[in-house]
Amino acid sequence: MNYQALELHLEQDQVRPTFVHRQLPELAANQVSVKVAYSTINYKDALTLNPRSGVLRQYPQIPGIDAAGTVVASTSAAFAIGQKVLLTGFDFGISWPGGYAEYLTVPAAWLVPLPTLLTLAAAMWYGTAGFTAALSVQTLLQAQLPQNAPLLITGGTGGVGGWATAMLHQLGYTELTVVSRNSAAGDYLRQLGASHVISANELAAQQPKPLQKQKFAGAIDAVGGSLLAAILPQISYNGVVALSGNAGGNQLTTTTLPFILRNIQLQGIDSVAYPATKRRAIWQHLATDFQPANAALLQQNTVTFSQLPSALSHFIGTPHYGRTLVQF
Ligand SMILES: NC(=O)c1ccc[n+]([C@@H]2O[C@H](COP(=O)([O-])OP(=O)(O)OC[C@H]3O[C@@H](n4cnc5c(N)ncnc54)[C@H](OP(=O)(O)O)[C@@H]3O)[C@@H](O)[C@H]2O)c1
Repeated sequence: MNYQALELHLEQDQVRPTFVHRQLPELAANQVSVKVAYSTINYKDALTLNPRSGVLRQYPQIPGIDAAGTVVASTSAAFAIGQKVLLTGFDFGISWPGGYAEYLTVPAAWLVPLPTLLTLAAAMWYGTAGFTAALSVQTLLQAQLPQNAPLLITGGTGGVGGWATAMLHQLGYTELTVVSRNSAAGDYLRQLGASHVISANELAAQQPKPLQKQKFAGAIDAVGGSLLAAILPQISYNGVVALSGNAGGNQLTTTTLPFILRNIQLQGIDSVAYPATKRRAIWQHLATDFQPANAALLQQNTVTFSQLPSALSHFIGTPHYGRTLVQF
């Protein structure tokens, strides 16, 4: 079977996306080939165009960390031809050919059967961003905070921040403060479920102090960097911060005081190596109780496979709302 894929080539320090033709391989034991129906664009996918980002360690590479589609060949007893599946994380689209291709072949252990209540498109509107938001929401739920607990979410217009806001709203949380750099996004974020929309400047005190007024019982931070440094001193006693993002940088300048005087937790969220055995339960939440009634608000942009190079190159640096689906 001959199929098209988008491959990234590195030429004189520039990444050049190129459509190439590939053949489906003979399957090794416990491998599955899938006809891809949808993929997505995540922040990490867009970073693959920047060779200095370190996301891809070698070129050429077929990127795309998410995909959903139908099994066309299988040497695994767990997956049958015709079965609908989804895939996010592991080495997919990083050191293994990814989802920006008409077909994919992966170890069966990476695949999740599509939950019966989700379509292939709905699974990819979530993608890694929705999965990461769900892991973050789960962390806050484990803290058993009351539904009127004041919560903070950062990166509101993005995928993780948007899904986290909509999911918490769906779960009945009413005091959601959402941070966004985009001053025009207020109406959109309030429709998602925000009760307050603030800028990063409003969050950061004029003179940052190690311990500030205890404003938030929990936070989902999809940005990190100086924003996280501003959040920690404002977390209340026993509060928890679920940190997934680094769009605002990898450095954290803080003190131990919020941890040792207010008993707060900083929980890292990793969607990539999250155990395969626990993924189905998260996707089941995404298909049922976590699924926001207003999910359509996040389903903002659909691009075709041929539009993908342009959409990828404009993704970072151009203000966007919600999620971008790639349709094959
Ligand atoms: N740990 C994990 O497993 C995991 C999984 C998925 C994503 N992530 C990370 O989570 C973050 C969000 O991913 P995503 O796919 O949701 O991306 P996205 O859709 O592009 O959203 C990123 C959002 O972050 C906000 N932001 C604030 N400062 C920024 C800056 N300096 N540069 C760019 N954006 C900035 C923006 O929202 P406003 O303009 O509204 O402020 C932007 O919309 C990324 O850092 C990504 O690498 C981590």
